Amino acid sequence: MSDIWNKLERNLAAAGDRRILSLFDDPERFGTFSAETDGMLLDISKTNIDGDALSLLIRLAETTGVAKKRDAMFRGEKINVTEDRAVLHTALRAPASDPLMVDGKDVRPPIAETLRRMERFAEDIRSGWITSSTGQSFTEVINIGIGGSDLGPAMAVRALAPFHDGPRCHFISNVDGADAADTLRDLDPRRTLVVVASKTFTTIETMTNANTVLKWLRAALGEGAVSHLAAVSTALDKTADIGIAPDRVFGFADWVGGRYSLWGPVGLPIMLAVGPEGFCEFLSGSHALDRHFQDAPLNQNLPVLLGLVGIWHRNICNYPTRAVLPYDQRLARLPAYLQQLDMESNGKGVTIDGQDLPRPSGPVVWGEPGTNGQHAFYQLLHQGTEVVPAEFLIAAESHEPDLMEHHDLLKANCLAQSEALMIGRSFETAKEIAAGLGFDGDERQVQAAHRTFEGNRPSVTLAYPKLTPFTLGQIITLYEHRVFVEGVIWGINSFDQWGVELGKELANALLPMVRGAPAQGKDASTRGLLRKLSG
Ligand code: F6P
Repeated sequence: MSDIWNKLERNLAAAGDRRILSLFDDPERFGTFSAETDGMLLDISKTNIDGDALSLLIRLAETTGVAKKRDAMFRGEKINVTEDRAVLHTALRAPASDPLMVDGKDVRPPIAETLRRMERFAEDIRSGWITSSTGQSFTEVINIGIGGSDLGPAMAVRALAPFHDGPRCHFISNVDGADAADTLRDLDPRRTLVVVASKTFTTIETMTNANTVLKWLRAALGEGAVSHLAAVSTALDKTADIGIAPDRVFGFADWVGGRYSLWGPVGLPIMLAVGPEGFCEFLSGSHALDRHFQDAPLNQNLPVLLGLVGIWHRNICNYPTRAVLPYDQRLARLPAYLQQLDMESNGKGVTIDGQDLPRPSGPVVWGEPGTNGQHAFYQLLHQGTEVVPAEFLIAAESHEPDLMEHHDLLKANCLAQSEALMIGRSFETAKEIAAGLGFDGDERQVQAAHRTFEGNRPSVTLAYPKLTPFTLGQIITLYEHRVFVEGVIWGINSFDQWGVELGKELANALLPMVRGAPAQGKDASTRGLLRKLSG
């Protein structure tokens, strides 16, 4: 296997300062370096990966056992070894068919039953059949959760705005009281349903926010407050502790990772917003991508190709970050969602066997929607000293037929950015521009230097027909499996998250000190800051 890594490194070295643009001398390049499934196209041709490098990357996927591990995941094997768990979020979106056994039990019937209960509950809330304690229909829903119990539904609810025909959804996640205060300020408790979402039902932020919101409900509704609550969790015993009625509790199994959980009950706000039919479309899009990941040959397999581009940029080119740039305002929260999906999964320093990794793993993932980012950080993308591979997302069609002009501008800008990153602008051209602006002599050189773009900066583009529930399911699943592919190649466990624990433990220990207890055993900086914050 190290042979393949070496060959990939040699491939890059041999390419020297080859321009990506020169790869398009091959008239077939766009066709060879793009792949499509169910109307969604991934273009990886604007990278410096040539035919040999792509073959080597595919061999890397083969020899590291991507397909074998993928099949093990779908079969329900316990590939999350540090937590001794299967990884079966894929089962949440698969049609109930053949039995799928985990620990000797078929997991399909409970998944189907929970989905039916969610549908009934969502319909009853949406139709007004279930009313509030004051006999009014619920027009508002607050989801209280954090991390995977917030980012997925918050991102998806926003993405599917054109399909909203249910109550309005609000999200409280941060333990900062500002989040609860600002959300509750404009809401009427008599018309507000509260979903407390937490896989473990122990997360301090969520429990604190749930108590605050429960007090808010109680102040207005007295004992009726409890009937405004629903819960989503794997810890069914704990949901009873805050008095939530069992028929308002939607459970899921521990083999659904938090950051992979929006396909099940954690997706309840999505279902409340767009209805059960829309939610099932969302699941169908996801399942279609699952099938594609399982069935398509590796060189036509979107998650595999996207993962291999990630490996190329991270390990062969040594780029430390990647930017996700949706030219789709409704995907504004996608970068934040992907930060958890990607960085909590692959931000690891040891292999599955606990050995130090031989090469860097997950990059920093960041981004913002275009065109807004263009007027902010794109300066660095084009002329900064770090190369940041960019990942553009764009729909062929918008939801605003009356605003065609906007969408045309959006498309033109998206295409312009990937083109500009690739072609750049030479010093010679910049000099001509400077001359045209009236600069001469040394000043022309200086002005030209500032107007030069080295270009040759890679990007990929994901183009889809329209942002629908189906497409959104495809997009999220593409990224889930991309993270999987990269994790397998790095030899890490993408499904645990031990790195979040230390900070939680220290916060528990610091809380009494924040409240005035002596800061024993703390370093001088922490002591000094405690003093400063005590007032
Ligand atoms: O602290 C990280 C984490 O455990 C995430 O993995 C998870 O999505 C989030 O906290 C919330 O956890 P829970 O759903 O159990 O409240």
